[in-house]
Amino acid sequence: MKSALKAVIFDLDGVLTDTAGYHYLAWRKVADELGIYFDERINERLKGVERMRSLEIVFERADRGFTDQEKRLWADKKNEYYKELIETMTPSKVAPGARELLITLKEKGIKTGLASVSKNAQTVIEKLQIKEFFDYMADATIIKQGKPDPEIFLTVADNLQVAAECCIGVEDAAAGIKAIKTAGMFAVGIGDPQVLSEADEVIASIVGFDLQKYIEMVF
Ligand code: BG6
Ligand code: MG
Repeated sequence: MKSALKAVIFDLDGVLTDTAGYHYLAWRKVADELGIYFDERINERLKGVERMRSLEIVFERADRGFTDQEKRLWADKKNEYYKELIETMTPSKVAPGARELLITLKEKGIKTGLASVSKNAQTVIEKLQIKEFFDYMADATIIKQGKPDPEIFLTVADNLQVAAECCIGVEDAAAGIKAIKTAGMFAVGIGDPQVLSEADEVIASIVGFDLQKYIEMVF
């Protein structure tokens, strides 16, 4: 028997808003200050990956070692740059089509969850003024394993009291798509089909999210 769609669980950065670009700019500033080579291709690997693990990836190209204390200092610096960038955000920064989709889901009685590993997620959600749309938001502080571990998606589904096979997960990161698939959910990727090859469907932006099509396909 087919299961029914009961919830859609969204990643935040790069899905509901373009903060993926801000994370990139903040890391780029750190890399430039340290003379470390950094480009968009390396940045792809940072998507969905928590802060200290991201730092390790950026520092792979450094020509010297860094102590743990130095690493923490640079991670804090990156976060300060990032916070400066998100400070100016307004509700106009909600990705085109995202608010409309959240409204449609509410109208249809489909639950919504947020699965972001960012410690700044609450600030961004408040700036975008979309908090009211979510039935449950996973807090980065309660998650032990980052993506690609399925923990965050399973935690959200659990709190929404919905079985994993009744959920769609939406992600812009390869690590996030892996987390969704390992959790046993239908995965919608936002971005490049080559990068997100493990997704069930890949769309260029949330505008292309075709709820009816996914329901007919799987649920
Ligand atoms: C994810 C981003 O949502 O959050 C990553 O895709 C980022 O790029 C991670 O590193 C952690 O964010 P923060 O705000 O806690 O540094
Ligand atoms: Mg993301």
